Amino acid sequence: MARKRPLVAGNWKMNGLGASLAELKALKQRLEKTPVPEAEIMVCPPATLLAQARWALTGTDILLGAQDCHPLPSGAHTGDLSAEMLADAGASAVIVGHSERRSDHGETDALVNAKGKAAFRAGLTAIICVGETEKQRGDGETLDIIRHQLAGSVPKEARGSNTVIAYEPVWAIGTGRTPSLDDILRTHAHLRRRAGDIALLYGGSVKSKNAREIMALAEVDGVLVGGASLDAAEFWAIYTAGQAAAGA
Ligand code: PGA
Repeated sequence: MARKRPLVAGNWKMNGLGASLAELKALKQRLEKTPVPEAEIMVCPPATLLAQARWALTGTDILLGAQDCHPLPSGAHTGDLSAEMLADAGASAVIVGHSERRSDHGETDALVNAKGKAAFRAGLTAIICVGETEKQRGDGETLDIIRHQLAGSVPKEARGSNTVIAYEPVWAIGTGRTPSLDDILRTHAHLRRRAGDIALLYGGSVKSKNAREIMALAEVDGVLVGGASLDAAEFWAIYTAGQAAAGA
């Protein structure tokens, strides 16, 4: 394991209005009552909520991440946000190369790589996502696809101190389906050989009921959680499962 304390990161995707800050306040209250020293927690709300989230979380150890960034620091790019802007709004990390961005916006490995470098430039941790589609898996290409995505998407400047890699099988995202524990183990062992001391997260239909067994696997340093991160009670249960897995 590259990371002693598992990281439990929640990706809210395109969900969350001002009222959703109540979920963050609920997490904050739980953390004040019951510290969870053996695991780290991060929430990645939509960029519109970052600044408010920063204030809502003042005084806690809950980390804030963003969901995407533009490769350039500033300029004429209507509607885009630079890594510097996200850092300024309170983020300490940014997800890049999520499969939804790769498919919705045609993002290539080269673009993801440039976004990773932008994150480093702004002092953010890059959470770089890779993962195979169902067809690729069916064709037995999982490890080849991942090797290829890693080679293209992970900047050569990536280190354990500035990067996290999330393995998210596309077919497991939002479907309630996950690979077998053996499959996750095998893929993460493969990732580890290439990732060195970079932390490796698993993502795709992580819930409170499977979080502990996944985080107890060798070379799984935490989880990236989508749908289940929208509910404070469920997300809290996943976070405490991280602590339990760390002690397992
Ligand atoms: P999910 O999403 O937990 O809803 O499957 C995971 C992700 O896309 O990061």
